[in-house]
Amino acid sequence: MSSEVTTAYPPLLRAIHWATAVLFIAAMLIGFYCGLQPPGTSPRRELLEVHKSLGMTVLFLSVLRLMVRATTRAPVEPASLGALVRFAARLNHLALYLILFAMPLTGYAFSAAGGYSLKYFWTFSWPRLVADNPQTAHAGEVAHDTLAWLVYAVVALHIAATFWHALVVRDGTLARMWPRSGNSERGARRCSDTGTIHMD
Ligand code: HEM
Ligand code: HEM
Repeated sequence: MSSEVTTAYPPLLRAIHWATAVLFIAAMLIGFYCGLQPPGTSPRRELLEVHKSLGMTVLFLSVLRLMVRATTRAPVEPASLGALVRFAARLNHLALYLILFAMPLTGYAFSAAGGYSLKYFWTFSWPRLVADNPQTAHAGEVAHDTLAWLVYAVVALHIAATFWHALVVRDGTLARMWPRSGNSERGARRCSDTGTIHMD
């Protein structure tokens, strides 16, 4: 009899994670910079177009990601992790998933209800699914700008924890998400690039 132990995330999920990480961090940094510039000035105006386009791309990638996550198997957590660390990691991942949807959606609501540009990289405009309404626009803006602080904290914690595990604890956490990670376990035979191994 052979039972399967998965030690890495599925390749598609890993690819989406890294693509999202790059786009998300770029959107976050551009948003931060734009927040410091007076409204209506250049290059804030142009950069906000890029910011919104990156954010909408993150939203669609996150929908795809959730579908992949729901239909595939996540790797088992390293046995060396204590209960508290496991709980903290799960809480951090849950917060990241919430942010991946909350930031684009509040940004979209704010822009759609406020009558602001919703152009995708200077090409087509996203449909306005939210009616023109100053109160909705204001609520979306307050939510987006307030959540931004949570974003900085949660993303910084996530990256710091990854480096801590990779450089200090060295428990293979990064390999679970790294492209084409090699997985080995005593008594286990590597099966494929999927990170799935068979225990005979
Ligand atoms: C990955 C998704 C996103 C992230 C991480 C993100 C992050 C941020 C951050 C950090 C700021 C600066 C907040 C401040 O300092 O006040 C910001 C501002 C802004 N974001 Fe986003 N955002 C995202 C998606 C979107 C989307 C999809 C839209 C619109 C369609 C949008 C519209 C805006 C606008 C208009 C501002 C300027 C707000 C102001 O100056 O008050 N964002 N965003
Ligand atoms: C340099 C930046 C980043 C690094 C080094 C990194 C690293 C990692 C690693 C190693 C894991 C696997 C953790 C585990 O197996 O317990 C992971 C998971 C995850 N990361 Fe990142 N990450 C980065 C940026 C981001 C960003 C910007 C986001 C989203 C805003 C994000 C969202 C997630 C989520 C949601 C998971 C959990 C995956 C799941 O269980 O489906 N990551 N990350």
